[in-house]
Amino acid sequence: MRHLIDPLDLSVEEIDALLALAGDIAADRTRYASVCAGKKLATLFYEPSTRTRLSFEAAMLNLGGSVLGFATADSSSATKGESIADTIRVISCYADVCAMRHPKEGAPLRAARYSGIPVINAGDGGHQHPTQTLTDLMTILRRKGRLSNLTIGLCGDLKFGRTVHSLIKSLARYEGIRFVLISPEELRVPDYVVNEVLRPQNIPYEEVTSLEESMPKLDILYMTRVQRERFFNEEDYIRLKDTYILTPAKMALAKPDMAVLHPLPRVNEIALEVDDDPRAAYFEQAQNGVYVRMALIMTLLGLAAPERKENEGC
Ligand code: NCD
Repeated sequence: MRHLIDPLDLSVEEIDALLALAGDIAADRTRYASVCAGKKLATLFYEPSTRTRLSFEAAMLNLGGSVLGFATADSSSATKGESIADTIRVISCYADVCAMRHPKEGAPLRAARYSGIPVINAGDGGHQHPTQTLTDLMTILRRKGRLSNLTIGLCGDLKFGRTVHSLIKSLARYEGIRFVLISPEELRVPDYVVNEVLRPQNIPYEEVTSLEESMPKLDILYMTRVQRERFFNEEDYIRLKDTYILTPAKMALAKPDMAVLHPLPRVNEIALEVDDDPRAAYFEQAQNGVYVRMALIMTLLGLAAPERKENEGC
């Protein structure tokens, strides 16, 4: 049985195949409308979510399956003291695959050990968010036509932003990737990202504080929200929250074919005027989230793409 807990649980070849499947789904969604008939997805969300939970649910519904689950920890038996291990054993009797988001790092990994069904990590604390990474990779691939030979700027909360950690881990496996890590001193990437991913693989990277100075060299700019819920005190959050605001004036410094990504939700870090810039890719990124999750559910359940009908695609 396969789980997706860490972005590296999928090999580069598997990710390439999954993105190709997601692209095929995007081009012809109706062909996939009953691939998961009779199957159920459980969404176990112990932490707030809009896009991730609803895109998982939309993905399963688009595949002709059904969904069940909870959207807040206080509507589950976690409030009565039930362990993750017990919860997942029970959910395994009710569903065929599950997506779990949890404030505790490692909770989905623990669930996977006791689970009778594939577990997908839909975000664990400030740690990893592998399905957001699939969404990001699909968006980069569609915008740039490749996942190699790119200079990627990641800007904002690189310390607590789990999407950042997963994206760096995944992109580091492709050729010719360079990272420009743009953050305040206090929100630099965790040491493990530098010591276990960037340094051992000799990935070129720089840690800087100026977004303006970085703009001209970037192929991709990945903006992030300062993760208020992971701060120990509110004063630090207030001091740091508006460090970076992407404006049309800053966009004027960037390459004409740069793409701006953001996992969303956005707070203040991208001015609304940037939305009309053709380089803004974040809403298309949210749409891609449905296609990659459809492809992922099919992959973990071992379901093949339906045959093309005769004369189709000729
Ligand atoms: C991200 C998350 O939950 O880590 N959101 C998402 O899943 N699209 C980013 C964030 O909350 O800032």
